[in-house]
Amino acid sequence: MNIKKASTTLIKCLTTSCLIAGSLFMSSANAQTTVHLDLENPGATINKNIYGQFMEHLGRGIYEGVWVGENSSIKNINGFRTDVLSALRDLHVPLVRWPGGCFADEYHWKDGIGPKNKRKVTVNTNWGGVTDDNAFGTHEFMEFAGLLGAEVYINGNLGTGTPQEMAQWLEYMTSDSQSTLANLRRENGRDKPWKIDYFAIGNETWGCGGSMTPEYYANLYKRYATFLKTPADNTPKLIASGGHTDQLEWTEYLIKNAKSTWAMQMDAISHHYYTLPTGNWEKKGSALGFDESEWFSALKNTLRMETFIKNNIAILDKHDPDKKVGFYIDEWGTWYDVAEGDDPGFLYQQNSLRDAVIAALNLNLFHQHADRIHMSNIAQMVNVLQAMILTDKEKMILTPTYHVFKMYVPFQNATSIPLTIKGKAKYKYNDASIPKISATAAIAQDGKLYIALVNTDPNSMESVSIKAPKDFVSAKGFILTSDVLDAHNTFAKPDNITPIAFTVLAVDGNVKIDLRPKSIIVFNLE
Ligand code: AHR
Repeated sequence: MNIKKASTTLIKCLTTSCLIAGSLFMSSANAQTTVHLDLENPGATINKNIYGQFMEHLGRGIYEGVWVGENSSIKNINGFRTDVLSALRDLHVPLVRWPGGCFADEYHWKDGIGPKNKRKVTVNTNWGGVTDDNAFGTHEFMEFAGLLGAEVYINGNLGTGTPQEMAQWLEYMTSDSQSTLANLRRENGRDKPWKIDYFAIGNETWGCGGSMTPEYYANLYKRYATFLKTPADNTPKLIASGGHTDQLEWTEYLIKNAKSTWAMQMDAISHHYYTLPTGNWEKKGSALGFDESEWFSALKNTLRMETFIKNNIAILDKHDPDKKVGFYIDEWGTWYDVAEGDDPGFLYQQNSLRDAVIAALNLNLFHQHADRIHMSNIAQMVNVLQAMILTDKEKMILTPTYHVFKMYVPFQNATSIPLTIKGKAKYKYNDASIPKISATAAIAQDGKLYIALVNTDPNSMESVSIKAPKDFVSAKGFILTSDVLDAHNTFAKPDNITPIAFTVLAVDGNVKIDLRPKSIIVFNLE
């Protein structure tokens, strides 16, 4: 059967999408790129927590974005907006990190417990100098994570808190005893202890978390960790605050000097990297209205993540060959200039097809290193930086990044399949180039083989052939693309860019796809 015919008859077009899907699968006689799957040698499990999300007391990320309070006119369950909850549930959000970020090192947990009208009003000195009535505190965070069915990652305050305050927070949350703190938790409405999955000792301790050196922090990390005592069946994984971008010295020093003591074990080192189109913090680039040069530079900059991962993992492999210590990218995503008129302290930004491509490129990299990267958190969940969701009072839209996370759900806890991309297609811009195709493959929990492909080139298609020691009948999945570089959703046009379903038949057991320019596809092969 001729593939053009097969695809024309079998592609399921949604009303507006026939043209896009039709051109996706038109004749593909000679594939330029071949993706070879090594089905015989499955790799590491892709920890679902790679799909973790970060929520901070920052701008409208929590207040309005997630929490509106029980008395709000915006529909809510116990104060959490129902539209956002339901959209996040569709992503199967596996893990949420809270309360910061920079905010964490000035957060005193006792400010956020007890009757809401008695909670302290504090000033958010990191983000816009606004006041925080602490209506969203420990109980609200834990309830929110529970409503999502997500694991919890709490970032402790090392910068301005004492070891006692940190240890007491954990006691408050995890003790089943009759201690004063455990009973205080009960008085505040929670009888049983909560399970705390991850706990970090400080955040960005090289910067907003205290401007420390790795040497100074390593000692503090050990000191604080020594006093974090929880019941044996409720021990969070302890995370040390590592470096950012190419700061390898943090990983090196921490793995050599703070991996373990008689009292504690370090479970992971965190790392942060943000993608700026220009690479310049003074003038980062715009979320929308950019030209191809900033499309290209943003993608090139995001792919630096691969070098950071490889270099850090090489250090870890040297000092921790059994791979006991994880490398967690607990903040990543795009960071643009704040649009005119928006509060510079709130980090609200629009999100376009470029963000979706960036998300997919990073997720593919994390899958590739799933044996060390057991967790990552995109920054951030709602209304801040590379958000899944944007809200405007009672209105809500899903971003292109949201759609990528949804398309990638099957990869959560899937078994990665090693692959080789042959053809070396490049996306060239002026004198520079980046790989044109990024790919990842895994056997999902439903037993099916899933593949994600990204075409980074906004100008040309790529014919991609999938090769495996096995015949396939069809490929079924979704594509996210547009003709416009900065395609995005707005409150007026919330479905401007959304995934389109497709089905295509294999020919003689082989699947060949003409992958549209600037697109992401996720499909399963049967
Ligand atoms: O995500 C915004 C901020 O970026 C975080 O608070 C901080 O950790 C990082 O610098």
